[in-house]
Amino acid sequence: MFDLLIKGGTLPDATVADIAIKGDRIVDVGRVDGPAREIIDATGDLVSPPFVDPHFHLDATLSYGLPRLNVSGTLLEGIELWGELRAIATVDDMIARALRYCDWAAAMGLLAIRSHVDTTPDHLRGVTAMLEVKRQVADYLDLQLVAFPQDGLYRTPTGRDNVLRALDMGVDVVGGIPHFERTMGEGADSLRDLARIAADRGLMWDVHCDETDDPQSRHVETMAREVTRHGLGARAAGSHLTSMHSMDNYYVSKLLPLIAESGMTAIPNPLINITIQGRHDTFPKRRGLTRVREMQAHGITVGWGQDCVMDPWYSLGTADMLDVAFMGLHVAQMTHPAEMARCFAMVTDANAAIMNLEGYGLKVGDKASLVVLDAGNPVEALRLRPDRLAVVSKGKVISRQARNDARLDLPGRPGTVRRRHGGS
Ligand code: FE2
Repeated sequence: MFDLLIKGGTLPDATVADIAIKGDRIVDVGRVDGPAREIIDATGDLVSPPFVDPHFHLDATLSYGLPRLNVSGTLLEGIELWGELRAIATVDDMIARALRYCDWAAAMGLLAIRSHVDTTPDHLRGVTAMLEVKRQVADYLDLQLVAFPQDGLYRTPTGRDNVLRALDMGVDVVGGIPHFERTMGEGADSLRDLARIAADRGLMWDVHCDETDDPQSRHVETMAREVTRHGLGARAAGSHLTSMHSMDNYYVSKLLPLIAESGMTAIPNPLINITIQGRHDTFPKRRGLTRVREMQAHGITVGWGQDCVMDPWYSLGTADMLDVAFMGLHVAQMTHPAEMARCFAMVTDANAAIMNLEGYGLKVGDKASLVVLDAGNPVEALRLRPDRLAVVSKGKVISRQARNDARLDLPGRPGTVRRRHGGS
């Protein structure tokens, strides 16, 4: 007797298969017969491993307008505004907002999130709050927390100590923000320091790296060197890397092999990069997204991160990683069918690899987490950003949604509109 059987779904590789689940694991995939306590008919629907977001700020989410709006729309005003909010936000405020966001995420099939947590204030209320959120959502959502010195590791008197305190409290990943240190030199020093902390503690490392339009912001070079030196490999990720958009092509031809050699991964955040970068430009105006296809051509694992939803830096957002991939696809001009399919894989498989998630996928033995989408294949899912008909997390159905087709009543042409092209 299976606990749950997903019948007839189309997997991302176009295979049609049943998926049988016992407890929190997938126990059979293919043509499966046998009784099950619960059956979901996914005939014609896309069944995917869950969405994964490797870059988010859960301590700031759903705070849009608090205590005021970001009028200039720049990264720097966002950081300033966040400084005002974190001074007044209570632990309970942050927990309530983060849990509300986690509900949105779960309903969207987004079941693993890496969130940076600001460790700048000595009170570390954000860390206290996010550790509590992680505990409360653990049954259905895998939350990784990053000790993130938002105002710089060396720029505040207690910046470095507070990162260490947060790690001692149980935060999982070491952060960093070299382009925000006082000088390029101190930025490079911070990377050497943080890489050693990550290596000594056996932790992963994820750096807000070169989130600037300055083509001379070359911290990713130092980061890659430190990743290689300490053998961190795919346990290290460079987030944003937007300066690479503006770098000299000859320099990038040397840089990409260095990044590939290190084994580190990359997390561009297209919704945020396209709205925040290029704000000092007139025309032509740069896009500010890093070189995604070029990194992938060098064998570097690149995912798409969401970064922000309704916070000091971004006024919109939905917790739908398909929105993120949709924007990334457009800005990076990844319009070939193979590239569009890759964009879907970036918010699933690639992001899971970046977070080093255990048991991720739809193979026998993998964790029984998946999402059923009202689409026939990954490219159609990107085009429609469709309803999530069912979300299963660790063997349990945590969300169901009815199909939502429009009923038309046009003269002489009554009927139902389905925007799907593939599938049924
Ligand atoms: Fe970020």
